[in-house]
Amino acid sequence: MCYVALVRFAFLLAASATACFGAAPMGWNSWNSFANIVNSQIVQQQAQALAANGMKEAGYEYVVIDEGWWLGERDGAGNIVVNPRQWPAIRPGQKDGDMANIADYIHSLGLKAGIYTDAGRDGCSMYPDSGPKYLNTGSEGHYEQDFVQFSKWGFDYVKVDWCSGAEEKREGAVQYAQVARAIQHAEKTTGRRLFLSICEWGSQNPWFWAPGVGGIESTVWRTGGDIIPPVVESLEDPEHAKRFITLKNVLDSFEAGMHPEAQHTGYYNDLDMMVMGMRGMTDAMDRVHMGLWVMASAPMMVGSDLTRLSPATLSLLKNREALAIHNDPYGLQPIKVAEPTPGLQVWAKPMAVAGRRAVAILNRTDSSAPVKIDWGKLGLVGTPRSLRDVWNGRNFTAADPAFSIPAHDLLLLSVDGEDKKPAEYPANQSDIAGIQATHGPMFARLEYANASGQVAVVRVKSTSGLSTALALPPTHGSDTGMAGFLLPGGTADLSFEAQIVAVRKLAVYSW
Ligand code: GLA
Repeated sequence: MCYVALVRFAFLLAASATACFGAAPMGWNSWNSFANIVNSQIVQQQAQALAANGMKEAGYEYVVIDEGWWLGERDGAGNIVVNPRQWPAIRPGQKDGDMANIADYIHSLGLKAGIYTDAGRDGCSMYPDSGPKYLNTGSEGHYEQDFVQFSKWGFDYVKVDWCSGAEEKREGAVQYAQVARAIQHAEKTTGRRLFLSICEWGSQNPWFWAPGVGGIESTVWRTGGDIIPPVVESLEDPEHAKRFITLKNVLDSFEAGMHPEAQHTGYYNDLDMMVMGMRGMTDAMDRVHMGLWVMASAPMMVGSDLTRLSPATLSLLKNREALAIHNDPYGLQPIKVAEPTPGLQVWAKPMAVAGRRAVAILNRTDSSAPVKIDWGKLGLVGTPRSLRDVWNGRNFTAADPAFSIPAHDLLLLSVDGEDKKPAEYPANQSDIAGIQATHGPMFARLEYANASGQVAVVRVKSTSGLSTALALPPTHGSDTGMAGFLLPGGTADLSFEAQIVAVRKLAVYSW
């Protein structure tokens, strides 16, 4: 997703940031509901549903085929061989057993196609599902060959898992840099963009090395294990029959994914595929799930069976104001600003519109609870001008209301007020050191030029000991790149060490 944003600053001077912002990807993934029974017919049905039910218009654009699409067989030249019955010809003139058929079908609906592999040799072998293991389902030893093949088939997105990488005790940063370079080679070969989704489950802290790994312009990285084992309702399998989703599954994935200091415009923590509407989920749990994923600007790859979504789940998934929070050009994660009683939490994050905050009030407890928000916690001057209930698209009339949140539910608010004055740093510097802020957390908005033609990976260090990577894609001509990022609480000293980045403007807001 790419759009040009016109952004207003706190002091109300209009200025345009002309770089291209990549919001976290949105779409569907086959694993949660179909696991290893995935085939052409299932993918066609799901793609049709996505195109027909309004999700495509709302921005869900990828249809991703997860594990189970091949069984580890290669021909004498090392090319992947697939089952012709699982992936038959769809149109006259096509050959059975060619993955280009399904990619072409997905494209014919105006959608983008995604595929899956493992950074190691054997892949997950369909872990943790029923059915035999299939060895050799990974790409190790074939990175260039496989990614060129995926791209030639027409795929636009690849999820690269870590089952075998972990088993072989590989180093994620090294392996995924090789994967990224192979992807760039594939992109040069075919001229087609191939988006990288890293699935390393957070085992080696990917949030520290994944931004810009191998020179990739935008990426997502999984932060935890699987949100659930798949629930394949059509399988007459006692193991699947007893699986259902709990609120804990959703909350655990959210918590594992909170690395707000690592996330920044174009580079996103991946909380895992969504389970909205799946067995065990209630409407209130769906609101919690949707609210947390949009607040986190996380990838929104829906893992449900799209042909069976209830009207309530579907309308939540398409809620435009919620999706605007997800697609906000800063793309930041929220910070927990208050927990007045255990389990009653207020999460907030800055939005690119001056003075705007997205706020989620989450009630994890078993009973309904009143909440009063301390507006001082949102980094605004005084009380907000307006409050909007995002689920219902209605404004609150009282300037300072108390809310009552039902058990296991979430209220999503868009709040408009006035930003506190940021500390601003002068333009035309290629290096800034010693940025001081006395109160945390802080968020920063950087406008920059990077004429190197490559992604610049800048280290951001703070006196709290935190050192993260800020990846700044190249800018062209007189374009300005923009990155929003969060800094930890306490005093922070930051240094931008890259000489190839010229700072045009840096504003740091303390909350
Ligand atoms: C791992 C991943 C899942 C899914 C399965 C497929 O568990 O984390 O998202 O891709 O592998 O086996």
